[in-house]
Amino acid sequence: MTRRKLIAANWKMNKTAQESVSFVNEFRELAKKIKNEIVIYPPFTSLPELNKAIKNTNILLGAQNMHQEEKGAFTGEVSASMLKNSGCEYVILGHSERRAYFNESDELINKKTKTALKNNLRVILCIGETLQQRESNQAMKTVESQLKTCLKNISNEEIKSITIAYEPVWAIGTGKTATPEQAEEMHKFIRQMLKKLFNEKVSRETRIIYGGSVNESNAKELLSMEDIDGALVGGASLDARSFAHICSS
Ligand code: PGA
Repeated sequence: MTRRKLIAANWKMNKTAQESVSFVNEFRELAKKIKNEIVIYPPFTSLPELNKAIKNTNILLGAQNMHQEEKGAFTGEVSASMLKNSGCEYVILGHSERRAYFNESDELINKKTKTALKNNLRVILCIGETLQQRESNQAMKTVESQLKTCLKNISNEEIKSITIAYEPVWAIGTGKTATPEQAEEMHKFIRQMLKKLFNEKVSRETRIIYGGSVNESNAKELLSMEDIDGALVGGASLDARSFAHICSS
């Protein structure tokens, strides 16, 4: 089975609903000839409008986060079924900004993953080491421990709905991309881990995408590596032309 490439736009806390719709109005034409899977992750407030705007296009919708409980007294939070109901196919879990600024732990991310899957959302699970961890030769150990905990009690069936995003923290929003070789080395390692935690088939079929300062000039080289099955794009996904260029790399 060949792994279909996935190119994801993580808009973070950018674009009002109106701005999101303008993006899609420009992007949908550019996206027509793209064979890769395309998913946009706008802020929650843009989801209902974008759900209308992407009708009859090859663009899918996702959310950047969700709460681990199904519903209840959690002021300010959003549940999996609310996302599903707003047109989301996907959700990003464990982004390094959530880990760093909102204290999300691997255990919490594991709970969220379980809830997302129960609600038929597909998950982009983010992992990656900090600069300090890389410089002290702890990169693989960090990624291994994140994977083990985040994927705890996930079945061989459930893992089919998960895409792993390797995002070295030192490469996010810094303009400092991992070299294709650095990224490939870690992607290969993650694939070996998947074989250990699940089996050979899971290791072969699970998509592992790269994120961290992906842009028009480095996307092609990164995406040509054997074990890099797509990209999670932040800054460079805010402009329709530049994102379309990355999508067709
Ligand atoms: P960046 O963000 O492309 O702006 O580095 C990537 C991400 O955080 O997913």
